[in-house]
Amino acid sequence: MNKKTIRDVDASCKRVLVRVDFNVPMEDGQITDDTRIWAALPTINYLREAGALVILCAHLGRPKGQIVPEYSLAPVAVRLSELLDDEVAFVSDCLGEQVTEAVAGAAPGDVILLENTRFYSGETSKDEAEMLAFAEKLAAPAQMYVNDAFGACHRAHGSTYGVTKFLSPCVAGLLVEKEVTKLQQVLDADRTGFVAVLGGAKVSDKIGVIEQLLPRVGSLLIGGAMAWAFFKARGMEVGESLCTEESVAGAQQLIDSMGSYLDRMVLPVDVHMKNVVTGETKYAPADGIEPGWDALDIGPETRAQYAEVIRGAKLVFWNGPMGYFEEPPFDEGTLAVAKAMGECSGYNVVGGGDSGYNVVGGGDSVAAITQMGLADQMDHVSTGGGASLEFIENNGILPAVKVLDDKG
Ligand code: 3PG
Repeated sequence: MNKKTIRDVDASCKRVLVRVDFNVPMEDGQITDDTRIWAALPTINYLREAGALVILCAHLGRPKGQIVPEYSLAPVAVRLSELLDDEVAFVSDCLGEQVTEAVAGAAPGDVILLENTRFYSGETSKDEAEMLAFAEKLAAPAQMYVNDAFGACHRAHGSTYGVTKFLSPCVAGLLVEKEVTKLQQVLDADRTGFVAVLGGAKVSDKIGVIEQLLPRVGSLLIGGAMAWAFFKARGMEVGESLCTEESVAGAQQLIDSMGSYLDRMVLPVDVHMKNVVTGETKYAPADGIEPGWDALDIGPETRAQYAEVIRGAKLVFWNGPMGYFEEPPFDEGTLAVAKAMGECSGYNVVGGGDSGYNVVGGGDSVAAITQMGLADQMDHVSTGGGASLEFIENNGILPAVKVLDDKG
């Protein structure tokens, strides 16, 4: 990576503002998946050992500039304290007097977690002056800045972007370094043996990613409801299957613009569908979806075909479920892909780690990998869903990484 990291600077006795991604899924005030907290530990520990006073800031959910108690980071402070086996001082604001006092009372090696940055509208404001005014206040107690919030690096917000105007040095944390390095390998991959697997509901969300990937891959395997949009754009019957006009327009745009690269795109040959009236389920060939039926997953032939391609790949990048993963048996396609990823001896990258806020029911490619106990067999499971896709789409450039200090 061509950006400075915490290893390139002296943080000893410095007050360091560290942006982390603690946007973890919660249910009734309980954290249901603490992966992102674990992922921040190497940077936090490194800085503590280097003698820094660590001031953590993060967002949780989308409270839109309001103080919403269910989006408080207080439960995260408790969990972080357990994982560090040490006290974490939680400050119930991220700006102002309370922060100044907490920082004044802390010593090198201590860890402070500030309240949700999105309780202030300036954090996400599109008005640059408002965003920078917020960032200046957030930066005020600190002497240097570390960005370790990979999952939020596609956001040019006050805490990920604005603060870099007010602090120096500004460097990457160890998670950001690892994510960028691993995902860059996807962009640098040789076309031979490079397989991308994309699923999820909407083509429109993934047009840019598909445009970037098609010229680079050997095969692009499509699953999930976005496949039905390609069916419909080709004039096929999709029955009651999830297929918005926006997605069909996106599919049509790709069909019109990608020329011969389209030959690399592989669509399901069969589907698993459900009758919307009787609830009966059955498999059908892709061109056999009937009115009154809802395609909810790829079918067995597609599963076998995709699994074979994945197992034989040199590099696989996967983002998005193959079907309605939240409702078995429509998780079979996603689980088949997850299993094949585990069996593939090539380089495996799972580019998805959205919190429960963005993925209904939390069912996504990472959940499938975790559920099957296969996470250890992957070369990299990204903590960033939107961020990993934008990294690919923008050819390795993320706004919050771009503004960090260059190496050399
Ligand atoms: C995520 O969960 O993908 C990141 O934390 C970013 O959250 P956001 O999509 O609300 O900006």
